[in-house]
Amino acid sequence: MAGKRDQWGSRLGIIMAVAGSAIGLGNFLRFPAKAAANGGGAFMIPYLISLFLLGIPLMWIEWTLGRYGGGFEHGTAPGIFHSVWKKNRFIKYFGIIGIFGPMVILSYYCYIESWTLAYSFFALTGTTTTITDQATMQSFLRGFQGLENNRFFHGGGPAYVFFLITFVINIWVIYYGIKGGIERLCKWAMPLLFICGFILMLRVLSLGTPDPSKPGWNITNGLGFLWNPDFSALKSAKVWLEAAGQIFFTLSVGIGVILTYASYLSKGDDVVLSGLTAAGTNELAEVILGGCIVIPAAFVFFGPTEIEAVSRSGVFNLGFVTMPLVLNSLPLSVFFGFVWFFLLFLAGVTSSISLSQPAVAFLEDEFNIGRKKAVLIFAAVIFILCQPAVFFLKNGVVDELDFWGGTFFLVLFATIETLLFAWVFGMEKAWDEIHKGADMRVPRVYKFIIKYITPLFLFCILGMWLWQEWRPIIFMKNVAAANKPFILATRAGLLAIFAVLAVSVKVSWSRKNKQAERIR
Ligand code: ALA
Repeated sequence: MAGKRDQWGSRLGIIMAVAGSAIGLGNFLRFPAKAAANGGGAFMIPYLISLFLLGIPLMWIEWTLGRYGGGFEHGTAPGIFHSVWKKNRFIKYFGIIGIFGPMVILSYYCYIESWTLAYSFFALTGTTTTITDQATMQSFLRGFQGLENNRFFHGGGPAYVFFLITFVINIWVIYYGIKGGIERLCKWAMPLLFICGFILMLRVLSLGTPDPSKPGWNITNGLGFLWNPDFSALKSAKVWLEAAGQIFFTLSVGIGVILTYASYLSKGDDVVLSGLTAAGTNELAEVILGGCIVIPAAFVFFGPTEIEAVSRSGVFNLGFVTMPLVLNSLPLSVFFGFVWFFLLFLAGVTSSISLSQPAVAFLEDEFNIGRKKAVLIFAAVIFILCQPAVFFLKNGVVDELDFWGGTFFLVLFATIETLLFAWVFGMEKAWDEIHKGADMRVPRVYKFIIKYITPLFLFCILGMWLWQEWRPIIFMKNVAAANKPFILATRAGLLAIFAVLAVSVKVSWSRKNKQAERIR
């Protein structure tokens, strides 16, 4: 029998943990790549609108629903949704997405995170810091990822070793639980991450104009690339979708992890100010640090056309090819290279542990399994689930997992949560619930936004997706013929995971119902 549910040790602890979950590879790799690929300033208007109409409301919804469900000893969406809508027999099955999504994201996130640990090591040992041209850096990356055999790597051995190390670190942290593992790690990792970020930001902002023949390639124009608004992009559905998707991914909303983290709060703990602080910290890391490091640095060295081209050629190229090249051209390249990749590793690990927690909480809360045993079961399952991303990266498996786990289901899950909160729980009750123990009031306009605008916005996004994308995605129009079997196998695997989770929910609820009947 599992003991009493875990609890956060302090308010600062949970804010650091949620900010840690939010601030991740999304802030420093995905955000610059998405912003640059979508024309910089053109991306920022939909991005900021999505932040205020989707991101912040969903933060509050998830913190509140999580704390509410925690009061019924449920730390994951099936139980939390069931607590909100007890009369509906099916709502718990929609909650499965809140365990499925984080597991799917984790199955590739952990591998990418391990590259950052590997590159920290390569920087420190000077392996990458002597490379000065794009083609060589690209070939180093491709060799390391196991995409080609070259003079740097033969086979994916080193990448697998770093994956194993990263995997063990993650499991080790969650093994020690909410307070002893996650909170303890985030309390030192988050300040260190900000120190690394500020060091890099100051270095980049003092870059000047490295190529005197290109005076326009300077820091001011680099910042302008991101911040000069381009209103014409408001007409592009694609830019809206990408911007809204980035808000979900970066804030970790619509995933299920914040529900779980908030379930360890006590009834009277504030969620309004804490949620806002965590979201604000993430945005500081994303638009200030994320926006002031990669994009201006790449702009100064390579110019606007090249940045867009590099980011369109792959989400990892700015972070793993362009950025190290910029740092290698500076004095103290070993130091700055290490700081960059270690920053990414800290950002990654504080996010990946949060992606692990929903499945662990599900085993603990719904099957009464003790934490350590739950972590070991989870470790065995997720280890197997990580293998396709490691071995079939070149076949497009990571992109497929990212589409379903990291994009589509986020929006679907957020829509379900918002409807449940505003329309089933009811906006009046929801408003009271948000403000229990609150240190500040949510501006009243958000009552209207949460009830009407957020769901409408989410419907529009889902509708646009279905309208524009369902056919090419379902029929794999943009997938090379050789990769189609891999994509189909990935989809079959995802369906199987979903089915196993659905059966688990059914079994757990039947057991609980039987127990309740015996007591009666
Ligand atoms: N929110 C996490 C990130 O940005 C998942 O990487």
